[in-house]
Amino acid sequence: QDDQFKKVISHAKEYGYVFQSSEIYDGLSAVYDYAQNGVELKNNIRDYWWKAMVQLNDNIVGLDAAIFMHPTTWKASGHIDAFNDPLIDNKDSKKRYRADVLIEDYCAKIETKINKEIAKAEKRFGDAFNKEEFISTNPRVVGYQEKINTILSRMGKSLENEDLADVKALIEELEIADPLTGSRNWTDVKQFNLMFGTKLGASIDTAMDLYLRPETAQGIFVNFLNVQKTGRMKIPFGIAQTGKAFRNEIVARQFIFRMREFEQMEMQFFIKPGTQKEWYEQWKKTRLKWHLSLGMGEENYRFHDHEKLAHYADAAADIEFKFPFGFKELEGIHSRTDFDLGQHEKFSNKKLQYFDHEDNQSYVPYVIETSIGLDRMFLAVFSNSLVEEELDNNTTRTVLKLPAVLAPNKAAILPLVKKDGLPDIAKKIVDDLKWDFNVVYDEKDAVGRRYRRQDANGTPFCITVDHDTLENNTVTIRHRDTMEQKRVKIEEVRNIIKKEVDV
Ligand code: GAP
Repeated sequence: QDDQFKKVISHAKEYGYVFQSSEIYDGLSAVYDYAQNGVELKNNIRDYWWKAMVQLNDNIVGLDAAIFMHPTTWKASGHIDAFNDPLIDNKDSKKRYRADVLIEDYCAKIETKINKEIAKAEKRFGDAFNKEEFISTNPRVVGYQEKINTILSRMGKSLENEDLADVKALIEELEIADPLTGSRNWTDVKQFNLMFGTKLGASIDTAMDLYLRPETAQGIFVNFLNVQKTGRMKIPFGIAQTGKAFRNEIVARQFIFRMREFEQMEMQFFIKPGTQKEWYEQWKKTRLKWHLSLGMGEENYRFHDHEKLAHYADAAADIEFKFPFGFKELEGIHSRTDFDLGQHEKFSNKKLQYFDHEDNQSYVPYVIETSIGLDRMFLAVFSNSLVEEELDNNTTRTVLKLPAVLAPNKAAILPLVKKDGLPDIAKKIVDDLKWDFNVVYDEKDAVGRRYRRQDANGTPFCITVDHDTLENNTVTIRHRDTMEQKRVKIEEVRNIIKKEVDV
């Protein structure tokens, strides 16, 4: 499992999908950049979601609310009140959260100790000081590092299931005592706010405290009435939005699974109070169907119904996906009652009610939410698609079997050799197809190597221009997954690809 996950991470880097942010400065923890292929895959996933949610539903419209919102938004939503913080008691249980903080605190303290030892030695040895050698040989520093490694390797993997008491016990067993103070008493963990703060206004005295939004949902709630009125929407109706969200996650060691800056694709569906059970069940089904439509294996999904509910919900479930590190939450479906709109009414003093002409009454609608992390979906698709295949001739090939509709490039156009006019024909095919799909031209290396490269890149088709092309205007078209090749007329190529990549 660990190995498969490592392969996923290194493949994502090697083939231009995901890079560590600011890598030349040693990176920024839990922040990632999408590279030339990654950005295409990410855009395609977003489009696939948007089409299914907005384009195909008459009663769902889109929105693109700002990342900055009035600070009262977060009081109303409960994100500022530490004890009620939906970011903590929602899925990541308080217990796990506290355990994370405890471990992080412990490691930070030990790291401080190590740095002190280094600073002392540096002073003593001056120019002769060799930091790397010191770190790897000094018994105290080596001992400290072992402690960090032990706790991370024992807790890191199964952190989500760990109990606070287990963490404390392990720290005791490992050591013993607070390495800084010598005390064995671990004070109760501080309350953290997971939101990133910033300031609006240049003058320090008058600047207003703002937060970067930790979910896109609130942008939908505060615009609910504007959209309903201007779009003359009738309940039931939905508002969908995709966009960045920010959370100062305490522990974020799982690549793009848990990031500090990430993107959400959320939809709030506004309904009549009392109908929430049916709509909740309906959206659970609809969302699972969307996932299954990508053909990534029914056995890789399961529902996890929540027993303990966040303060805003009367029912909640996750769609879990089998990631390389096990089944984990990919999407949440929440029956949020009238909590959010009710809170925004209270804090803004503005009515956020819907007038129902059929019933001749006004009410605050109930809400069913579907919320999926785009980056997490990216990881699901990417990790599920990466396979090593044994071939008949005892070799292996690495293939990224991305669903064709999501693949960054739909076809690679390859001249068999770099002469006899074949490159010109290949380039003409590229120029022709690029209006419809992303295609790439590749003439470097032997054609077999180029096929392998495109397999590993996830390109569903390779179109090869050879000497027969000169005679009869045909090319070979090779399918990534079956490796089968067929000879077809150049004019047929577009439709063959289209059939596979159209939704
Ligand atoms: N509006 C509801 C909400 O935000 P959530 O369960 O906190 O609910 C919804 O988040 C989805 O957003 C999750 O199912 C996950 O896919 C994604 N998500 C949450 N935190 C994330 C993080 N730190 N990194 C990447 N994706 C995250």
